[in-house]
Amino acid sequence: MKVLIVGSGGREHAIAASVRKSPKVDKIYCAPGNAGIGQIAECVPIGAMEFDKIVDFAKREGIGLTIVGMDDPLVGGLVDEMEAAGLRVFGPRKNAAILEGSKAFSKDLMKKYKIPTAAYETFDDPQKALEYLETARMPVVLKADGLALGKGVLICQDLEEAKAGVRTIMLDKKFGAAGNRMVIEEFMTGREVSVLSFVDGKTIKIMSSAQDHKRAQDGDQGLNTGGMGTFSPSPFYTKEVDEFCRRYIYQATVDAMAAEGRPFKGVIFFGLMLTKDGPRVLEYNARFGDPEAQVVLPRMKNDLVEVAEACIDGTLDRIELQFEDNAAVCVVLASKGYPTAYEKGFPISGLERFEQEEGYYCFHAGTKKEGERIVTNGGRVLGVTAKGADLKEARANAYKAAEWVAFDNKYMRHDIGKAIDEA
Ligand code: AMP
Ligand code: GLY
Repeated sequence: MKVLIVGSGGREHAIAASVRKSPKVDKIYCAPGNAGIGQIAECVPIGAMEFDKIVDFAKREGIGLTIVGMDDPLVGGLVDEMEAAGLRVFGPRKNAAILEGSKAFSKDLMKKYKIPTAAYETFDDPQKALEYLETARMPVVLKADGLALGKGVLICQDLEEAKAGVRTIMLDKKFGAAGNRMVIEEFMTGREVSVLSFVDGKTIKIMSSAQDHKRAQDGDQGLNTGGMGTFSPSPFYTKEVDEFCRRYIYQATVDAMAAEGRPFKGVIFFGLMLTKDGPRVLEYNARFGDPEAQVVLPRMKNDLVEVAEACIDGTLDRIELQFEDNAAVCVVLASKGYPTAYEKGFPISGLERFEQEEGYYCFHAGTKKEGERIVTNGGRVLGVTAKGADLKEARANAYKAAEWVAFDNKYMRHDIGKAIDEA
């Protein structure tokens, strides 16, 4: 079978690496891909939002399965268009991807179906939002309704900051149309855990847990980023937490979407906060996390293609997910200055080493080929993942491997997975 992957980041590289292990697969294509993906797949110069071109390509090449990695095309309805053309595609339709595409939708869903989450109000009118803040408890969390590259969330310490935040989102439109509507919600404290799952419309199967590090600098300082590193499993995701989530969150979400006439097929990513009152949903995503996928997928024993097909066919109940009894840590190598301003185009050396070492991966996020060289081409450049018998060993291995690679302006956090010392 020929498989097409849509996207161009570390997540799509990790998906491609898993797909490659499937005995069912003869050839992998990626639209548009990157230099690393190009080593195991054929990259085609089609953007993830060029739906007509993707459909034409898939029909022309006889693609047997398309996996959509990114949120934008999912929320925009790529799956619907491919299905309408008779193609098999893994990912939620537009009416289900709204679980990620609209924070107001997801909050209303949770309220209606009593899924534990932070208390909130939704606003279309900036004036009403400003009035509401007068009586809100601080700190408070402001969220632009739509997709904003993970940056549409502001945590405000006092009333002045919160009012300025409402203006930024709803009047200055810093996040564009995503800020036409907003959610104001209660500030919660606790550890965050990412739980990814496969869903076939009715059945849900949970993957091994992970934790992301969203801030740019050590000690969770600095600006929010797309993610500076991950580890899996999370030692804080205990048996009790798992039982609670299975009882009140996971199946409840899948059933709620089905009851709303929006059956979800694909990956639901539960962003959880473990508060002292129990786990609460921070957010849903309608896709694999990035860089969560870079630590979760390398540990999965199942054939990803088989699982994706079961989700499409509604036969996920027949699959038992299995993960290796080990751990993985991913350290993101970024360009100095990310997530604000940074330079690109520096040659990268040391990548060959990963081909020789078992249990080590170098997933490309922002790279491109320039002649025979691979050069930096983004804020997040590479995700270096290593496995180990436990988290400590995986972390030591990942930091060792992070030194194999060199490029100008290389930047990384040095405390990815440090939290495990407190477990
Ligand atoms: P979201 O995109 O909704 O996951 O928000 C991004 C990040 O903002 C989360 O990973 C949390 O760190 C933080 N955050 C979101 N909502 C809340 C909340 N209600 N209380 C505390 N922190 C939050
Ligand atoms: N790592 C967080 C995300 O993929 O949204």
